[in-house]
Amino acid sequence: MQILKDSFGRTFPYIRLSITDVCNFKCGYCLPNGYQVDKKDNRKFLHLDEIKRLSKVFSKLGVQKIRLTGGEPTVRKDFFEIIKILKNEAEIKKVVITTNGYHLDEKAKMLVDSGLNGINISIDSLDRNTFKTITGHDRLSEILRGIQNLQDLNFDNIKVNAVLLKNINTSEKDFDTWANFIKKNKVDFRYIELMRTGDNLNYFNKYHVSSKIFKEYLDKNNWIYQTFGKDAGPSLNYINPDYRGKFGIIAPYSKDFCRTCNRLRITSRGDLRLCLFGNTGISIRHLLQKDDQINELQDLILGQMKFKKESHYLELGETGLTKNLSTTGG
Ligand code: 5AD
Ligand code: SF4
Repeated sequence: MQILKDSFGRTFPYIRLSITDVCNFKCGYCLPNGYQVDKKDNRKFLHLDEIKRLSKVFSKLGVQKIRLTGGEPTVRKDFFEIIKILKNEAEIKKVVITTNGYHLDEKAKMLVDSGLNGINISIDSLDRNTFKTITGHDRLSEILRGIQNLQDLNFDNIKVNAVLLKNINTSEKDFDTWANFIKKNKVDFRYIELMRTGDNLNYFNKYHVSSKIFKEYLDKNNWIYQTFGKDAGPSLNYINPDYRGKFGIIAPYSKDFCRTCNRLRITSRGDLRLCLFGNTGISIRHLLQKDDQINELQDLILGQMKFKKESHYLELGETGLTKNLSTTGG
């Protein structure tokens, strides 16, 4: 079997697939004015048949995990059907999603029933007003109810991400609030350092702060650094025997961040992206139209692997193609 491998010896058992650009939130660092429909652009997001062919070819190439992202993936009407196809027809072992948690309270049961293997929920603050200011929505409580419902159904792969924002969610009190949360809940909480994108330069300059402040908090409070496991993601994890959940830090600007890269991305319109930030990306959509294109599609994808670069070079101020993360997910 041929598997996806780049020139630096990294393999790619993991795909992040954006299924829509549409998002109903207005996070300050991403879509501060909300999602804008581009009337000139009549190309639709990948449809079900295209997603089926795509996931089958990647499954053949050794992909075992697919993360559905957006935008907000759950806004798609056929969202649960997509999960079904990935799991049953493409036989992807782990299907996980990243969501803003919109209506999570109502969706929890269907998510668990769908066979989903994990969920990442974005919650930038546990303070109702701060949450509302950042996302434009007063929906913290429905999301927290959703997390409770998931736990009541014994769903136990729950992660929460927050973007670290200077003077907004970076006080000792904010950190303590999260510690208290993961003491009671078996939920892994990670801070992501704010990334600079094509659209968010002013926001970035105002709110970017190094994750060092959180790391210092963890050290001070006796959290223990956990070394990389086999299935390790980009997060540096910290454990503490008195807590049910773990803490984590995702620092894309750190040296070595790309060394463990194990993922490729597909945009909602069928572009293969070799890196969230890299300038490399070609459309594979024309080869998702008929079942008999599978070999050609496979060759195209394998041929792209040699273009994957060693690092994102973000520290040099490159933002690549990414205007904001709503087109490719985080
Ligand atoms: N920097 C860091 N994280 C971001 N996200 C969206 N835009 C950015 C950015 N510029 C996060 C979301 C979510 C995940 C999908 O990516 O908050 O947690
Ligand atoms: Fe929507 Fe996620 Fe962007 Fe927030 S970060 S606006 S939830 S796509």
